[in-house]
Amino acid sequence: MLLLRRCHSLTRFGSLITQRHQVTPAVASCAARLCSSSSSSEDHRSHQRVHSLSWKHGLAGLLAGTGAVLAYGLHHHHKAERADIGVQTLKKSSSLPVFSQEEVTKHRSLEDGIWVTYKGGVYDITEFVAMHPGGDKIMLAAGGALEPFWALYAVHNQEHVLEILSDYKVGELNLEDLKKQQAVKSSDPYSSDPERHPVLRINSLKPFNAEPPPEILSDSYITPSAFFFKRNHLPVPQVDPASYQLHVEGLPGGVLTLSLEDLKTRFPKHTITATLQCAGNRRSEMNKVKLVKGLNWGIAAISNATWSGARLRDVLLAAGYKPDVAQWARHVQFEGLDTDVTGTTYGASVPLNKAVSEEGDVLLAYEMNGEDIPPDHGFPVRVVVPGTVGARNVKWLGKIIVSAEESSSHWQQNDYKGFSPGTDWDTVDFKSAPAIQELPIQSAITTPADSATIDRSDETLTVKGYAWSGGGREVVRVDVSLDGGKTWQVAQLRSGEKGQAPEPSPPPGRAWAWKLWEITAPLPPDAQELEIVCKAVDNSYNMQPDTVPPIWNLRGVLSNAWHRVKVKIREDEDEE
Ligand code: MTE
Repeated sequence: MLLLRRCHSLTRFGSLITQRHQVTPAVASCAARLCSSSSSSEDHRSHQRVHSLSWKHGLAGLLAGTGAVLAYGLHHHHKAERADIGVQTLKKSSSLPVFSQEEVTKHRSLEDGIWVTYKGGVYDITEFVAMHPGGDKIMLAAGGALEPFWALYAVHNQEHVLEILSDYKVGELNLEDLKKQQAVKSSDPYSSDPERHPVLRINSLKPFNAEPPPEILSDSYITPSAFFFKRNHLPVPQVDPASYQLHVEGLPGGVLTLSLEDLKTRFPKHTITATLQCAGNRRSEMNKVKLVKGLNWGIAAISNATWSGARLRDVLLAAGYKPDVAQWARHVQFEGLDTDVTGTTYGASVPLNKAVSEEGDVLLAYEMNGEDIPPDHGFPVRVVVPGTVGARNVKWLGKIIVSAEESSSHWQQNDYKGFSPGTDWDTVDFKSAPAIQELPIQSAITTPADSATIDRSDETLTVKGYAWSGGGREVVRVDVSLDGGKTWQVAQLRSGEKGQAPEPSPPPGRAWAWKLWEITAPLPPDAQELEIVCKAVDNSYNMQPDTVPPIWNLRGVLSNAWHRVKVKIREDEDEE
């Protein structure tokens, strides 16, 4: 039986059998016989290559919970589909042997084979693991069920990944053990995620990623927390404010541990208004040029709020920071309390000088818009690093580490970096690019919406939007065109709620909040269609690039080309 099973499995890998560690001569010859009679070695090589890529990135991404890695896998899988190399050999079949859970559990190493179960099927993934040493997260599933992992990374639970898995099927789990498995309800790690407002446009449910309708953004200078875009990589952790602890490490004074109460009472409360923007905001426009990997954000992965809390600088000083620390330390790392199945936390870092500068305004915020920070936004404490990409504004903050090194987290090292339009997934080297910190100048049109129809009888058209720049650079102008960029008008900028006094002008270099803008212009008499365009300018005279292709990059980050919206003008019927 075992021999048969091995043959069954190995025929799908052809030349791979020579790479296996523990293949008995009997198994090898059986496999070789079957291979030579079933298909050409060329087919097997392609099969092996594609499977290797798909598995490496598909399953590794699945278990590591990294969208980028999964996306990479899917990219290659799509390639494979196009190449039509006939990998769909072993689909579900009732002729497969039946195994007990006990038998499956024996397969937890390269020596004994690595098996997993999924929905009653038994899968042998030994070949994959043998080819990709270091896949430690995959080993967590060895001998057991994949379901709990897939529940955590539901975003990866895609039909085509399931299809790839089906090619590795070696048997069925016996009915009794299957029933037992089903009885043990794998708890959904997202079951305690908070309720969200139904108006949000969901990009992914688990983890939760959503943006508000754009017109809501320009309706209020301060985005109500319920509408603030939400970007989570993992389930929202439930943190008890009474037992919450923040650890500050890496300074000569040793470890400083603070409770929420300490943060609120031992340090002055500081309030700033700051815009957060995800690096992937407007990614969908890059997708129109050429497919990129990542959530398909529209123009609303950006929002503006007031944040209150202790200054990070004050907390670092209390923990023993002195200027001579800067002789060896360069970064301040942050760890969240949200974890993946291995216990790995979300993490990021910012340059030390931003963290300790009096003008940096980095906060350990416990309030958002005058209330406790909502669960989705980091309750009870998050870092707000104004002027810096959303990814470094770590939520559910658990640890701060002053270090000579950047955070080693996936999100600092292998994601949130920009590349040339010429760099693809075969050539990309994440180590070659710096982590995104300050974001470039940005603006977008929130109303009218693309493809809207305007009545000629309206006579005028009001265009609204937002503009913001990273690094505390202030937006000084927004230009709007109704004819695709041939002629331009200057929009009115607003830095406060409509009808209220604007917020006081920020000191130079500390313009952390966006400006809303608006323009009302007569409808051009002869036009039937308008291409509305906006572009912003900051106080360093940085301007947005006019088109997307020159800034396209494989992860679709830093998408800040002139924003364009096309609308139709409906002529009044009685005039026609
Ligand atoms: N912090 C933790 N702990 N976990 C996360 O998934 N996401 C980051 C950042 N901080 C994240 C995090 C990213 S990529 C962004 S864009 C912002 O949080 C989004 O913040 P928001 O959900 O409050 O809008």
